[in-house]
Amino acid sequence: MFHVVNTDVFDRQVLDSLCRLTNVVRSVAKSREGARFLQETLPSKRAMLYFTQPSTRTFLSMNNACHILGIRTNEIRDPEVSSEVKGETFEDSIRTFSSYVDLIVMRTPEAGYAARAAALMDKIPRPGPIINAGSGKDQHPTQALLDIYTLERSFEDRGGIEGKTIGMMGDLRRGRTVRSLSRLLRHYRDVRIVYIAPAAYEMEPDIKAFLSEHDVPYTETTRLHECLPELDAIYVTRMQSEHDIDGEASGGVDLAPFTIGTRELDLLADHAAVLHPLPRGPEIHPDVDADPRAMYWRQERNGMWMRVALIATLFGADAEILDAAHRFE
Ligand code: CP
Repeated sequence: MFHVVNTDVFDRQVLDSLCRLTNVVRSVAKSREGARFLQETLPSKRAMLYFTQPSTRTFLSMNNACHILGIRTNEIRDPEVSSEVKGETFEDSIRTFSSYVDLIVMRTPEAGYAARAAALMDKIPRPGPIINAGSGKDQHPTQALLDIYTLERSFEDRGGIEGKTIGMMGDLRRGRTVRSLSRLLRHYRDVRIVYIAPAAYEMEPDIKAFLSEHDVPYTETTRLHECLPELDAIYVTRMQSEHDIDGEASGGVDLAPFTIGTRELDLLADHAAVLHPLPRGPEIHPDVDADPRAMYWRQERNGMWMRVALIATLFGADAEILDAAHRFE
């Protein structure tokens, strides 16, 4: 693993290793000595956080993950304050970042840019890893990692993700989180996916073809209440109205039948988990937050620890952390 452009770099062994390391770093970081040890892991590294599409938690969790490992961070969050406004090409901008930093974490409104940056890195004398922190409607591989980790933790007393039925609801057509998570779930035996979406926002054919190719069973429905009792987890997403084109007015879609409130919680199994990549719109009522099945606030914090594990692994520091962990128990 060098670049993380899409979920293809993660097989089951890598996923299990990253989940294990995430558990270790969150435990090590609890003590002052452990936090100091982690900060001394990669102090000579520098990272560029290049986010030209809005972000709160991916940006903050990547930034803090770097700091936890002693990595110094730089950021551009608005192309208007970079030399791109003077006409510098995307490739020249990335190459320029690589002159100063060892890692580039990037989010873009369109798909394909992280792949272009990775291809460029593979050709230059001073390459560094590229992490895709969200590419248009296409992929959000590190979100899928933290989602896998959160699901594994939610089911740690029930055999993990294998054998579970996972619902995904909302704007599935334009949801990069559900696309990436669907792809990763193929690594877990006997998982079944239930897609729940308004007809115009159902999952794209490429992901359904991918699941069929990998023998992952899925069903599609518009009837949330009918399928809630069979779910072990429901992954709720918001309407991605920022991707509206040609007069599409997705903000006007009636999402009431695709909403989780206290009535829906009554239909959900006691052990089930409610996830959401956040930010949320009206699709999860704030009254759900206090329910023990609501995992989304833990999920966003899990993102920071999973990204610590990922970055440590990209720089080959995973073995050192695992070897030293017992000192901080
Ligand atoms: N889940 C997620 O990507 O959130 P942000 O857009 O706030 O980074």
